[in-house]
Amino acid sequence: MPGSSCNPCGQYSPGAAAAFALLCALLLVTVQMLGDRNWLAAKIGSGAAVDKLKLHPHGAMAAFGVQDVHAASHWGGLPAAETPEGARSAAAAPAPAAAGLAGLAEKLLGPAKVMNGSLPAAFREDVKGVEVVITRPHGEPKAVVLLFHGCQHSAVDWGYPSPTCSSCLGLPEEVRIVRMVTKAEYAAVAFSSTDKQNRCWDAQWLEQSVDLSAVREAWAVLAARENWEKLPKYALGVSSGASMVLLLALRMQLDGIVPQIMSLPPHMLEGTPSDPVSGKSWGYPPTYFMHMALDHATAQRVSADIAAIKSKQGAWVTEKLLRPRPVTAELLAERIEGVDAAMGAAIVRALSSEGLLNATGFLVEDPRQSVARWQDTLKGVPGLKAIDSLQPEKSPVSEELNLAWARHEIISDHVDEVLEWLDARRRDGSAKLLPQVKPRRRQRLLGRGVGHEAML
Ligand SMILES: *[C@@H]1O[C@H](CO)[C@@H](O)[C@H](O)[C@H]1NC(C)=O
Ligand SMILES: *[C@@H]1O[C@H](CO)[C@@H](O)[C@H](O)[C@H]1NC(C)=O
Repeated sequence: MPGSSCNPCGQYSPGAAAAFALLCALLLVTVQMLGDRNWLAAKIGSGAAVDKLKLHPHGAMAAFGVQDVHAASHWGGLPAAETPEGARSAAAAPAPAAAGLAGLAEKLLGPAKVMNGSLPAAFREDVKGVEVVITRPHGEPKAVVLLFHGCQHSAVDWGYPSPTCSSCLGLPEEVRIVRMVTKAEYAAVAFSSTDKQNRCWDAQWLEQSVDLSAVREAWAVLAARENWEKLPKYALGVSSGASMVLLLALRMQLDGIVPQIMSLPPHMLEGTPSDPVSGKSWGYPPTYFMHMALDHATAQRVSADIAAIKSKQGAWVTEKLLRPRPVTAELLAERIEGVDAAMGAAIVRALSSEGLLNATGFLVEDPRQSVARWQDTLKGVPGLKAIDSLQPEKSPVSEELNLAWARHEIISDHVDEVLEWLDARRRDGSAKLLPQVKPRRRQRLLGRGVGHEAML
């Protein structure tokens, strides 16, 4: 057995084989001593070219080109499968846009509160030339969550259409996040990028970014007007918006960030967070990455970012990975405004008959690659066209299909827990203490797992 199971060894003398084995063992021991699988994953990166556009259909940024971490597999225990949550929040009725009144109402109502079901109304306005959509909680806000869309999207995705936001689109995952934010009694402020062509964020450079300064200036005006300057601030960004929040944390003092389905080249996360004008500096905020199982390249890059945030910033950082789920009537009815159980079942039947779902209800193909097929079959679902354009990046159903496929889409699942985690880090002050410990002691702490929550 020994001879046949190790054919290549047979070609070498026993002495050479023993030396080789010793070398391997030494290497392994060294690696274990270093003990950081994230660091290891980063170093082992193959540098293989990856079809970035395919992986990131609406998040392909120049930043990708300089990222070089593509190890073949994710290191260590990935989190257990996420199960779709049961029907939890009763969705509010949709708010058809009262187009004629919209402008007037926006002027007259100003920052007043208009409730729509359990979700307070969204207010769209321009602040220093930046489009924002604000949703205030029922009472005085305890914190603010700044929201950053992905490419081809905008702030109006984050609220239902109403007289105070006639152009609002009300995409299901976005609105579900806003619902969680306001339920926590936080205010939600969604920003639009300055680029109105591809609608990506200018988040490739720290110093020249048009969007970083635009957002900072708009926020300063808004926070002063609303008296929100002293409130804790969190930021959640999707895809290109995730690059934005990772960079924003270096230029704006935030209490926690949630980058979804995207990372930055780790070297961009090494600088001291500071305000170049006032010279004030602060610690990098607690960071909670969320990404998806079918996007292995992003999983690798997130590992590298986690390593950089841990070792260079000493900040709290963790991650959550979402797995594929079946497309069910319950999922569609729970999340999409205007879809009930019967219409949800009709959508599932239509997708099945087109051969897009397997026997257990999972998609068999990336919905971004099968647009014409799901569009055609869904056109036949009675009543659906009235509430869903069936246009990619604008259609509520297509957003849920992308979520079910689990490659590259905004994630509302667990955002409430994620915000709680960030709030706990802020309240116990650990976020602020960590960066101040001496580098050698920090190394020891990090080695014991302090500063890094276990993967969930
Ligand atoms: C939400 O607002 C719209 C108009 O703004 C209204 O038609 C609709 O009935 C409201 N829904 C609820 C649940 O209040
Ligand atoms: C359907 O696809 C999912 C995800 O790929 C897989 O886990 C499941 O086993 C498939 N079901 C059947 C019946 O093939």
